[in-house]
Amino acid sequence: MPTFYNGKHLIDTDGNVVHCHGAGIMEYDGWYYLFGEDRRGDNRVSCYRSRDLVNWEFRNVVLTLNSPTGRHYVRTEPQLGPRGFGPDGLPKVGPRGANIERPKVLYCEKTGKFVMWMHYENGRDYNAARCAVAVCDTVDGDYTYLGSFNPVGNMSRDCTLFKDDDGTAYFISSARDNADMIIYRLSDDYLSVDEQIKTLWPGQFREAPVIFRRGEYYFMLTSQCTGWNPNQGGVACSKSIDGRWSSIVPFGNTTTYNTQPTAMVKVGEDYLYIGDRWDPVDYQNSKIIILPMTFPAEDRCELVWADEVEFTETGIKTTAREVEEFRIVLRAYVDYVGSDGYNIFSKHLGYNDRSLLWTREEVDGGFMLRHSESGRYMSGDGIMADYAENEPRLVWSTAPASEGELLINKHSGKSVLIFGRRVILADADDKRFGGYRFVENY
Ligand code: GAL
Repeated sequence: MPTFYNGKHLIDTDGNVVHCHGAGIMEYDGWYYLFGEDRRGDNRVSCYRSRDLVNWEFRNVVLTLNSPTGRHYVRTEPQLGPRGFGPDGLPKVGPRGANIERPKVLYCEKTGKFVMWMHYENGRDYNAARCAVAVCDTVDGDYTYLGSFNPVGNMSRDCTLFKDDDGTAYFISSARDNADMIIYRLSDDYLSVDEQIKTLWPGQFREAPVIFRRGEYYFMLTSQCTGWNPNQGGVACSKSIDGRWSSIVPFGNTTTYNTQPTAMVKVGEDYLYIGDRWDPVDYQNSKIIILPMTFPAEDRCELVWADEVEFTETGIKTTAREVEEFRIVLRAYVDYVGSDGYNIFSKHLGYNDRSLLWTREEVDGGFMLRHSESGRYMSGDGIMADYAENEPRLVWSTAPASEGELLINKHSGKSVLIFGRRVILADADDKRFGGYRFVENY
């Protein structure tokens, strides 16, 4: 029986590694079609198909920098490739083209067309924060790119699509610098936004949305905002998509088994979660993880770790060995500002920069934080220090935090809250800001 092995690279029927990240999955004509980011060479979107979620056949690079472009209802920016210059004299998009993330595809019965929505960035930074649309007459043909824009003027980053049983489609994306999650109902041809219908969990900084429906409930999975590093996933539910949603409760373990949600798929009676196990240092080494979702109650779901997921005629069978332990990489830019005892840590957690990576080295009584690039250590008194044995200024421990991760320095009692992409500095007895001092939003 076909078996999916988690933690290993997925190999396609030609023997190549499947490059399909931030993927969306769509059932069509007896096949599961997977669309995802493929960043070998230029940025592009690739499509694979499978009958069993295990054997995947590569079909096409459906969106490339040279995809044909077409007209759209609203004014969009049609640029995908590195052509043309902006008013600042810089190329409008990076040398490998626009950065397309989390492409999702739906089939529109009304028009008979396949419509792709995705997250667009210019390939240099994450400031454009736009969605983009592409369309095609066949599921895995060459898509026509219709351009990128800010839906209803909003920022729009991590995103997903959802098609309800009545054929109405919704686009969901992180807005306001990821602080809010917005649901948009799409026009009946799925090509544009009809209306912004819901702003969820304002100020809670969620990303990686995935929506699915089971029984009377809609479920929405999201992650916190920690870039390529995993965090505790959260799920909320509602009886109507534009009604009241529950607050977010955790699912999976504290790293969602080292994954970030990207899609859900139903196979028979089983619900399967598809997540990205990102490699923050080597994107190409990122893996696709497929795990069963269980439902302890009508309005609750739980993610279960499985090393192997076997698809049998009577449903899935799983095998789980020990849950893996994962090395935690703290991805913060920590800047030495001054010696006033407060402004030790400033600056932001950012995207795509190896100089932002920190590794954790276990020592007696805690761990040390080592800056990957400089090799120096974070100390509790504001100085980036060289290694010294048994040096309490370099030793950190963690303390429970309602969200994010709180690091406390053994020697000074100073602490750093790593919360999404924000770093919050605190002194153990600084109560002015509830104990924490907000330093900077990225
Ligand atoms: C993640 C996001 C990914 C990608 C990444 C870049 O939080 O879910 O799709 O944007 O950040 O750092």
